[in-house]
Amino acid sequence: MGENGFSGSVFITGANRGMGLGYVVHYLKQGLSVIATAKKPGEAEELLRLEKEYPNQLSVLGLDVSCETSILNLEDRLQDIRATFFLAINNAGISLEEEFGEWTSAIFETHFRVNTIGPALVSQTLVPFLEKGAKLIQVSSGLGSLGQSSNLSNGLSAYAASKCALHSITVRLAEKLRTKDIMVFAINPGWVKTKMGGDNAPSTIEGAVGDITETIERLTFEQTGSFLSEKGELIPW
Ligand SMILES: NC(=O)c1ccc[n+]([C@@H]2O[C@H](COP(=O)([O-])OP(=O)(O)OC[C@H]3O[C@@H](n4cnc5c(N)ncnc54)[C@H](OP(=O)(O)O)[C@@H]3O)[C@@H](O)[C@H]2O)c1
Repeated sequence: MGENGFSGSVFITGANRGMGLGYVVHYLKQGLSVIATAKKPGEAEELLRLEKEYPNQLSVLGLDVSCETSILNLEDRLQDIRATFFLAINNAGISLEEEFGEWTSAIFETHFRVNTIGPALVSQTLVPFLEKGAKLIQVSSGLGSLGQSSNLSNGLSAYAASKCALHSITVRLAEKLRTKDIMVFAINPGWVKTKMGGDNAPSTIEGAVGDITETIERLTFEQTGSFLSEKGELIPW
């Protein structure tokens, strides 16, 4: 890889499995260069295999989005390889069930660290590396929508609250980055067959990633700061 081999790349968090890995495969097949990050890169077998298959297109970096030191290290690595991005996807997320009556501060803190604070700080770190016209995507969930208010009785309140707070971050970032010509969106992937989504989910990773990447491509500056479905329909906050 040349010195400027990672200019004009795609950046993805939580890329070792699930939809994160799906985006990596999608963009590699399109011939684009990708910086894929994983919490434990040494154990990210499929990513490491892809790195060998696409040595000129893929670089795998370690990033635990819940750890501030890890985010600072990422900044150094991106400077070293002189990466710039036209697209960044904050995809990493966790979802743990805890029924009302058994709520703990730990369950809320864990969700907010990974699903809200992580994407906020990673976004902040990425800004100097984002090109004019770049798109910054916050992967959210329908459960984070107050307007839709679906599945209110399930045990995913900490998850829902953390994604709802991510919406606030999305709107605020969109406003802050407007003058830098950077667009910011929250996207709900729908219910997808992954470790998080489970086997009963109606959508496959390939289907969801196909829809989401098509939607991302169509997004324009007029839409910055909005919350959209995988197909690009507006979702109420
Ligand atoms: N699947 C669905 O139906 C669904 C629906 C709505 C929204 N979403 C959202 O879509 C995104 C992707 O979900 P998915 O279904 O693909 O989930 P998944 O298969 O469970 O994958 C989650 C990914 O996030 C990573 N991750 C978790 N904690 C992390 C941390 N602290 N630092 C870095 N990476 C971390 C995981 O890495 P490890 O393997 O190292 O843990 C994994 O790569 C999430 O933001 C999720 O909330 C999913």
